[in-house]
Amino acid sequence: MKILAIETSCDETAIAIVKVSSSPEKPVFTVLGNALYSQVKVHEQYGGVFPNLAKREHAHNLTPLLSKALTEAGLFQKEHHSITDKDRETLGGILSREHNLFESIIPFLENIAVPDIDYLAVTGGPGLEPALWVGINFAKALGEMWHKPIIPVNHMEGHVISSLLRDDGTLAPVAFPLLALLVSGGHTQLVRADSWLSYEIIGETRDDAIGEAFDKVARMLGLPYPGGPQISRYASAAREKKITPRYPLPRPMLHSGDLDFSFSGLKTAVLYTLRKIPEVTEEVREHIALEFENAVTDVIVAKVTTTLEESGAKTLVVGGGVSANAHLRSSLNNMMHKEFPSVTLLIPPLHLTTDNAVMIALAAYF
Ligand code: KG4
Ligand code: ZN
Repeated sequence: MKILAIETSCDETAIAIVKVSSSPEKPVFTVLGNALYSQVKVHEQYGGVFPNLAKREHAHNLTPLLSKALTEAGLFQKEHHSITDKDRETLGGILSREHNLFESIIPFLENIAVPDIDYLAVTGGPGLEPALWVGINFAKALGEMWHKPIIPVNHMEGHVISSLLRDDGTLAPVAFPLLALLVSGGHTQLVRADSWLSYEIIGETRDDAIGEAFDKVARMLGLPYPGGPQISRYASAAREKKITPRYPLPRPMLHSGDLDFSFSGLKTAVLYTLRKIPEVTEEVREHIALEFENAVTDVIVAKVTTTLEESGAKTLVVGGGVSANAHLRSSLNNMMHKEFPSVTLLIPPLHLTTDNAVMIALAAYF
């Protein structure tokens, strides 16, 4: 079975083609094509993602990326055929709000044979609404023209599944109950699952998402978007120099007695701290980045510890862009080693931590 997956929920435009072989009990996933365009450079100057700008960029890039992914997968077979007026009308209806996409998809469809894929998959949410719609309408247009069924996918489920993918294309075996820690630019969630089909959000942020906090603090320090990798870089440099952080920051909700998070107060604490400092030097950046990274990591590790104790989970899965953070990864690893040696910890390889379409294809399969 081959699945062509489309991801446009935020600022990455991604298309992947994944082949699933072997038995349903032990599927093997092979990535045949994987095309991704990151809009980071476009949004950098604004310090965050602008939904309508993201939408425009997706519309601009989807057709070329599709062409690239199909070519990489060896599924681009040239064949000329005219699009009928009726098809043109159908496409015009589906892409009525995506004029650029309409303009690029017509010549593309006129020059390709229907590719050998079985399903289309597309992120249906959560994400930025205008950005999501471009991907959904693109999938609808292809589904209509190629007569392929469409599988809508929850973006967060994609992040969870991608943590299980091993280098040989098989999935790590999972023992339930499973606890998932999802940390991204839009979400901070603890999810408990008793099976793949039954799960519950047991904790989440009451305000900013953790990635958003990284991005905003980076911006206050005069560092470009996305802020996570920047903060991480400064914090690592500080750790290497064995700096003791000079500006203490709070650990919000550490003792709240529940599994929720809050990062907006931490961000404000950074703002107030910086107001008292005459100049944001490289040294100040290192001190703040270190203390900020320590603060969020302390909170995350503490909440995960409590959840594991309470839930009796046998597997911990970590997913989302912030799971690329080296300090968070090693702190979770150490804590698990010490406190929960019998619980399996699954963190995705770095290239699958941030948004991509491979994870959407995997989730679509399930
Ligand atoms: O999952 P993702 O790619 O997109 C969303 O679904 O939001 O996550 C993006 C977020 C951004 O906020 C980015 O700053 C953060 O992940 N991020 C990091 C690191 N790499 C990316 N945060 C901390 N440390 C990192 N190394
Ligand atoms: Zn994401």
